[in-house]
Amino acid sequence: MLNEAIAIAHEVKQPLTAVISNGNYCLRLLSESSPNLNEVRETIQEIIDAGNRATLIISRMGADLARQCQERAALEINDILSRAFELLRPELDRSGTDLALELAKNLPLLMGNPVQLQQAFVNVMMNSIEAMRSIPGQRRAIFVETGTSPKGIFVEIRDLGPGVLANRSERIFEPLFTTRTDGLGLGLPISRSIAEAHGGSLTVIPATEGAIFQFILPITAESSHR
Ligand SMILES: Nc1ncnc2c1ncn2[C@@H]1O[C@H](COP(=O)(O)OP(=O)(O)OP(=O)(O)O)[C@@H](O)[C@H]1O
Ligand SMILES: [Mg+2]
Repeated sequence: MLNEAIAIAHEVKQPLTAVISNGNYCLRLLSESSPNLNEVRETIQEIIDAGNRATLIISRMGADLARQCQERAALEINDILSRAFELLRPELDRSGTDLALELAKNLPLLMGNPVQLQQAFVNVMMNSIEAMRSIPGQRRAIFVETGTSPKGIFVEIRDLGPGVLANRSERIFEPLFTTRTDGLGLGLPISRSIAEAHGGSLTVIPATEGAIFQFILPITAESSHR
């Protein structure tokens, strides 16, 4: 999954570079006293082609995820989270981020793909670690809570970073939307695809401080027997 995402990011970077360099070329052409409009038109067409290529790569990724999510097992969501914490341990230590857990006991089992769900939790927590680079080291903490709600199991991941502006709460889930210089803007769209492929959702919920991301993962009749 992760390798696949990296491969896709790599593929997407190529058309994006083409968009940027062709865009700059257009600006240069247009700054001339009598610009060659045919050349401008051709270059804009190349920009559109590159944009279409990137869109195709991303939508293929969604289809691949949906297919892979067919491979499922009965899972204890707290176990999956524990594995995600293990993977993140070096990043948590390096950034001095505390982890505060409130995990419900005896949650119903959930039918799902363990590797993908783990990846989704890692992506969201990595974002929290990155978001909290801007606050003092001793305040950095991630709060993870699990429990049941009428819609299924919920997993809430909260941090004390700058938070997400209300008018960005959907944009951040768009592929390639990033505010980080080294970000690809793929972590959240991938995580949301994974939640949705499990019949669930991933949203950012309003917070007075920091950011709160909430996964809802429905429990199906076949999965709820322990
Ligand atoms: N916990 C958070 N607090 C504040 N902003 C956040 C948080 N999580 C995500 N964001 C915003 O959403 C954007 C998109 O996140 P996403 O994970 O999709 O991409 P990214 O982290 O920028 O890059 P990558 O592809 O490496 O994950 C981030 O660049 C950031 O602006
Ligand atoms: Mg990210």
